[in-house]
Amino acid sequence: MSQIIPKIIGTGSYLPEKRLTNIDLAKMVDTSDEWIFTRTGIQERRIAAEGELTSDLATIAAKRAIEAADIDPATIDLIVLGTCSGDFTFPATATIVQDKLGISATKFPAFDVTAACSGFMFALSTADAYIRAGMASRVLVIGAETMSRIMDWTDRGTCILFGDGAGAIILEATQKEENCSGVISTHIHSEGSYLKLLQTSGGISAGPPEGDNRPGLGFLTMQGNEVFKQAVKALGQIVDETLEANNLKREQLDWLVPHQANIRIIKSTAKRLKMNLDRVVLTIEKHGNTSAASVPIALDTAVRDGRIQPGQLILLEAFGGGFTWGSALIRW
Ligand code: ACO
Repeated sequence: MSQIIPKIIGTGSYLPEKRLTNIDLAKMVDTSDEWIFTRTGIQERRIAAEGELTSDLATIAAKRAIEAADIDPATIDLIVLGTCSGDFTFPATATIVQDKLGISATKFPAFDVTAACSGFMFALSTADAYIRAGMASRVLVIGAETMSRIMDWTDRGTCILFGDGAGAIILEATQKEENCSGVISTHIHSEGSYLKLLQTSGGISAGPPEGDNRPGLGFLTMQGNEVFKQAVKALGQIVDETLEANNLKREQLDWLVPHQANIRIIKSTAKRLKMNLDRVVLTIEKHGNTSAASVPIALDTAVRDGRIQPGQLILLEAFGGGFTWGSALIRW
């Protein structure tokens, strides 16, 4: 019996114009360009303009993916958007993007998934399942964030890490054939006992953080070194799981497209895979940790500059708050 799998037919990404460099940050908190760069690999991040929303970033990335795929946007029948910094508490940012793309008329479903920095991997896995189940045939999958809006700009342990951006892909249902291009497998996990290590300090139901009189519903808080250890462990396990599930040896992989959180975490995953850094797509230097947007931004960068070529095997992975982590194996 023939099987349907999703194929990536277009990618796009967008970074806001405003740059915030390490040197700029050193004027705001007690830090230095040298500390940030050696500990994280980040040189600058982008900050959304006032009034520029997550849906705006997502819509530009989506338009670029639609253009690359050369499709009529009206043929899209599902939008899944990974974010933890959506425009509003509701509606879903995906529905706002649907409207901004001018494709609401056919009333297809559009919804968000929240898995912090793993948001795109969870969105991709959801879209993959919809396509395999025959419930969608052309899916817009997006990762988009305005992390700058939940930063505590007085906390040097977190504000140096994050930035804003968006990335998108178009998935299309295709008949599976031997070695055909498409999503081969996705793997996602959550372990909900680590709230205190990485969360926001307040929220809709929890309310504003106690003893903090600043406006808003709290800021991102993180015990960075503990998160670091867990991320290295979980990502090591998930790359093994992905290779084993597909009976593959690590040397068969052509590219690693990792979540861009910290160069040291990326190096540790690459070492486990015995991959030289020249086979790892690195964009962290230019935009920092854009949470759910980071993997699709890195993927789009390497597709557009020609590094990723047809037939190659690509491993995507991410780790984030929850904890959550995920991977996807793709034949380009
Ligand atoms: N500038 C200068 N010094 C600093 C800074 C800074 N910006 N931040 C912390 N320090 C200091 C600390 O106060 C500490 O000083 P002390 O030794 O006097 O106490 C020292 O540097 C070391 O601090 P650590 O936190 O142990 O530094 P570490 O090497 O772990 O680097 C970092 C911190 C970069 C945050 C790292 O832990 C990290 O990247 N963690 C993982 C982040 C991540 O992957 N998150 C997951 C995704 S996020 C999401 O899901 C939304």
